[in-house]
Amino acid sequence: MTFKFLSAFPWYMSDNRDFMLYQQDVFEILPSIPDSSVDLIFADPPYFLSNGGITCKSGKMVKVDKGDWDKSRGIEANHEFNRRWLSECQRILKPSGSIFVSGTSHVIFSLGFAMQQLNMKILNDISWFKVNPPPNLACRYFTHSTETIIWAAPHKDSRHYFDYHAMKKENGGKQMKSLWSITSPLKVEKRFGKHPTQKPIKLLMRIIKAASREDDLVLDPFAGSGTTGIAAALQNRRFIGIDLDDEYLEIARQRFETRDEELPVKRKKVYRRRQKKAARTVKKTVKSKKTDNPPKSSKSPQKSKDDKDKNPTLF
Ligand SMILES: C[S@@+](CC[C@H](N)C(=O)[O-])C[C@H]1O[C@@H](n2cnc3c(N)ncnc32)[C@H](O)[C@@H]1O
Repeated sequence: MTFKFLSAFPWYMSDNRDFMLYQQDVFEILPSIPDSSVDLIFADPPYFLSNGGITCKSGKMVKVDKGDWDKSRGIEANHEFNRRWLSECQRILKPSGSIFVSGTSHVIFSLGFAMQQLNMKILNDISWFKVNPPPNLACRYFTHSTETIIWAAPHKDSRHYFDYHAMKKENGGKQMKSLWSITSPLKVEKRFGKHPTQKPIKLLMRIIKAASREDDLVLDPFAGSGTTGIAAALQNRRFIGIDLDDEYLEIARQRFETRDEELPVKRKKVYRRRQKKAARTVKKTVKSKKTDNPPKSSKSPQKSKDDKDKNPTLF
């Protein structure tokens, strides 16, 4: 099935039309999507945070300025914004579908309240534990190290899809808990540029695996650098992403076209290969020290300083 129903012209479309990006306001696109047509939504909406506070970036104190899209319009207007787009999401979700909404304390209470007002069925509140958070510069708070992800079905009587067994398998044979320890995005995920609030691919891979099947339609109304779309494409789901900013969409497009670089298996393989190589080097070094002989693989018994520098190090 292709996305014939959308009135606007996509900013980018893959050859088979399974991956589409729209540069548009969310309120222009969502109303053109038919009722009960989407299987899964992940939304990471504006935090309404960029209003002159400070934060820590690469060890430096900087003003929080993620962009105009992140400026607060006042508590009530922010809440009305959340209620409006959530209500559209509720309308377009299939009865078997579900939505994951991510946010920090600045916005998550409004999002949760809006979902309650719309009579959605809250399934879980997942705590994403950011294993490597930036330090708290004010030293008057605990280090902010979690983000909440509310998982909900569109209506109280909805029968949402959940791949329980896949999640159990991913958790080493034990039930997957609602506390997820996941590090911030890796370098490879930012190879075409950074988005200020980019989510890690691992987080989205898990969400998509847990709550959708192959060929399902996944939508992200605030797509940013396209993390949801990349995770969807890597797992053979179809994707629609919406964002106001074409600079972010350009990152999403380039990530999509080279998406295999973000495959966890590939990343794991490289990591394991490096680990094995490092372990072998250690073994040889220990052996050579014991026997007082140089390692077998070294071409010359008298190693130069340069050769030593080329040796892989343990990490
Ligand atoms: C929190 S970021 C999402 C980041 C994304 N999850 C990622 O991994 O890159 C929110 C995004 O919503 C976009 N945005 C804000 N208001 C919007 C609106 N009314 N319609 C469409 N996109 C909007 C912003 O440009 C921004 O990229």
